[in-house]
Amino acid sequence: MHGVSGAELASSVAKGGGIGFLGSGFAKDKVSLHREYNRALEMGGNHGHERIGIGLVGFTGDWLVEMAIALSPPAIWITFGDYNEPIRKIKEAGIPIMVMVQSVEEAVTAAELGASAVVAQGSESGGHGAAPISTLCFVPEVVDALKAKGFDEVAILAAGGIADGRQVAAVFALGAAGAVMGTRFAATKESMYSDEKKQRYLAAKAADTHRTRLYDDLGAVPWPAGIDGRVIGNTFSKSHGTVAPAEEEKQKALKEKLAKGQQEGDLDVAPVWSGAGVGQIHSIDSAEEVVKSVWDAACARMLEISGKNVPFRMLHPGGGLRL
Ligand SMILES: Cc1cc2nc3c(=O)[nH]c(=O)nc-3n(C[C@H](O)[C@H](O)[C@H](O)COP(=O)(O)O)c2cc1C
Repeated sequence: MHGVSGAELASSVAKGGGIGFLGSGFAKDKVSLHREYNRALEMGGNHGHERIGIGLVGFTGDWLVEMAIALSPPAIWITFGDYNEPIRKIKEAGIPIMVMVQSVEEAVTAAELGASAVVAQGSESGGHGAAPISTLCFVPEVVDALKAKGFDEVAILAAGGIADGRQVAAVFALGAAGAVMGTRFAATKESMYSDEKKQRYLAAKAADTHRTRLYDDLGAVPWPAGIDGRVIGNTFSKSHGTVAPAEEEKQKALKEKLAKGQQEGDLDVAPVWSGAGVGQIHSIDSAEEVVKSVWDAACARMLEISGKNVPFRMLHPGGGLRL
């Protein structure tokens, strides 16, 4: 997660038992990526070499892919843009690759190219994405499509709106082999996000978030067409539509307003990228604690629901109530 996940966060996730990724998709140069990765390995202690991966995006340059391969992490994450060639290179280097996908077709292509894991990201997700479909509906479609094509060895992970143990248990029920959390980790002690942004997470509920392309249209990063992002709505995002205005003058004025707001850290203008699972975040803990507590809660919930009769009344298709 760009601007969120540095050595502190990635290593804390690894210590908790997860795979922590450095948000390196927009790294400025080879030296800074190398330094950050080494710092993360040191901070991760025994788990660093096994569980700290490098996160890339598919449109920011071959040199980043080459560098990530040279660092030989236990996993590389890639998404967005034309990433077919990077996947081939990473695969050739023997590094497990996780590909975040936004459609069933993309999931199949990623599996064909040799992805070790496919991350099916639904529309509840925070930050950037393109899936118009909810995690609840998208994940089973990906599970069924990869099964039908015989890709049994490809792990399917679910992303989008997952922030607590119940939601992790739910995606296991959908057939996922694991869960990816973004927003939940952006709201941790080790996240590079400012304290003010973390406070926004604590105050927000799902309905406060919305998807928009406005920030990307007005920003400097050339996000590919069809991609937008989910934010906690603020005065700026709610006042100017979900795409930039076509008129040059208006666009220029909004660009200046956004640049100023970002520089000043004005959160009524600048974005706080957030998934719809934000309503499940009630405290700013360490990422290590989050991984452990979410996993414990997921296991407890799975035990609870597997050991009991269906705890609610279901409407029988024939009309009657079934207990
Ligand atoms: C603040 C923030 C920044 C993110 N940055 C990136 C990024 O640079 N690259 C990427 O592949 N995904 C990025 N994501 C998406 C996450 O990797 C993940 O797929 C997503 O957050 C899952 O949805 P959730 O936020 O509801 O947990 C970001 C998400 C957030 C919340």
